[in-house]
Amino acid sequence: MQSLVNQKYSINSKVHYNTGKYKKPMMKGVILAAGLGSRLHPLTKVTSKHLLPVANEPMIYHGIRKLSEAGITDILIITNPCHVGDFVNALGSGTDFGCEFTYRVQEEAKGIAHALALAEGFAADGKIGVLLGDNIFNASIQQVVADFHAQQTGARVLLKKVDDPERFGVATLHGNRIVAIEEKPNQPKTNYAVIGLYFYDSTVFDIIRNTEPSARGEYEITTVNNIYIEREQLEYNFLQGEWVDAGTFDSFAEAHRILTNQKE
Ligand code: DAU
Repeated sequence: MQSLVNQKYSINSKVHYNTGKYKKPMMKGVILAAGLGSRLHPLTKVTSKHLLPVANEPMIYHGIRKLSEAGITDILIITNPCHVGDFVNALGSGTDFGCEFTYRVQEEAKGIAHALALAEGFAADGKIGVLLGDNIFNASIQQVVADFHAQQTGARVLLKKVDDPERFGVATLHGNRIVAIEEKPNQPKTNYAVIGLYFYDSTVFDIIRNTEPSARGEYEITTVNNIYIEREQLEYNFLQGEWVDAGTFDSFAEAHRILTNQKE
């Protein structure tokens, strides 16, 4: 496998070492890459959705690059038990990416918040950026990371106007605040999807501990985000550029198109 460092869209360690001196990364990152990928069967019988090729690279390279470009290089990767070996083979320690990787296994796909709970020790009371490994986009997240770094407490999400909000968490805005998020509503109140990139302070783990599974039996990240709304501690940015959640065959093809165009 060609090292990412040598490629045109390389992960450039200068992003966080640009003073010539070692600079402590602003925050740690978590990539959630467990789950069953059942909407992409039979491809996901062979390996994880997040290792399938998108624009000539395993999908997860994209998320690693986006976090790394924003100075997040200490990254926990959460996988399911079947595919953890595939991830270690594909990614190794992180050296090839200018990163340091840690791995944890989510034994059962009980939801995004359930997977995130596994990051508590890794986070070590610091702030974290959490990326769903199937979210593909072409904008930089450096400004968002800087905004969250400057935020004293709470959480930050990203919104994107979409044509099919019923597939996502959907935010209702009042003035410049998010006042509610509904998970995959049949009749969405707005077109503002909450994308799969979240920033949390260390209280997120206590919040998760106090949530209950939803009707579909999953610990939902939307439940967690609504608790930050109740506390008036949820901020947001709009994501620029193109974005897709590559969980279906159509959106997987769209992810390929977005990343291929980016390389041209
Ligand atoms: O893509 C954005 C959407 O992602 C948000 O708008 C929704 O609010 C959020 O619930 C989520 O919806 P999805 O239906 O797309 O989630 P999905 O089950 O496809 O999981 C997304 C990623 O999270 C996927 O890359 C695998 C990981 N995951 C998922 C589950 C259920 C885990 O690591 N563990 C899990 O148990």
